[in-house]
Amino acid sequence: MEVVIVATPQVGAQLVAESIEELVRGKPGAVLGLATGSTPLPVYDALVASQAGVSFAQCSAFALDEYVGLAPDHPESYRAVLRREFTDRVNLSPDRLFTPDGWAEDVPAACADYEQRIQAAGGVDLQLLGVGTDGHIGFNEPTSSLSSVTRIKTLTDQTRRDNARFFDDDVALVPQHVLTQGVGTILRAQHVVLLAWGAGKAPAVAATVEGPITLLVPSSALQLHPHATVVVDEEAAAQLQLAAYYREVYAGKPSWQGL
Ligand code: F6R
Repeated sequence: MEVVIVATPQVGAQLVAESIEELVRGKPGAVLGLATGSTPLPVYDALVASQAGVSFAQCSAFALDEYVGLAPDHPESYRAVLRREFTDRVNLSPDRLFTPDGWAEDVPAACADYEQRIQAAGGVDLQLLGVGTDGHIGFNEPTSSLSSVTRIKTLTDQTRRDNARFFDDDVALVPQHVLTQGVGTILRAQHVVLLAWGAGKAPAVAATVEGPITLLVPSSALQLHPHATVVVDEEAAAQLQLAAYYREVYAGKPSWQGL
């Protein structure tokens, strides 16, 4: 696992955006794994602002998760958020943006279909991840199987409180259920890039990188991934025991190597 400690979210976002551009330059039909929430927003902004001239027209994108039961036109559905924050701002067609069907009547069939679509697309090349304060990735809350696949999950009270800011600060408006890629689904991506900003994420980052692999901290499963990159700002890195070592390793890395 590579840990990159940056001064600000913008610096980290720029690195990640460049890594995505490099991927797409080499593979125009790359499959991107997109996250929602606040954390990836600076990456989307950096890609939109980029002058690199990379086209996303042949890419496809898969969301990590979707709320169950929000009105189809709800602005906080993750499909709406991803379109608004990223895909509609670059040339990635809505037809190539896939999100779990949070309105499906047959939930198991919708989840199986989502897994099948990811496989049919050739798998995810680069998966962006935020991390919950409880160590969730996607919405794999603590006790999620580390080999789980897309399925319905119940959000914890903590996660619903954390996400209430997107729902007029009213926890009651945050859906209780989501469809989410499983930890096992996420681990099948070629490259996973977990981002975290701010002191509130410091305990989750330390548990992800340096804690035991445990289903109580689903993000710790990334320790099993052969190409996992963790990009954090100084505050989110504050509880890492080996921070000095990670800085040394990154400083000595050849610039051509990328993330
Ligand atoms: C979002 C997702 C979640 C978030 C996590 C952190 O698609 O899957 O795991 O990444 O809840 O959220 P923020 O970035 O808002 O702190």
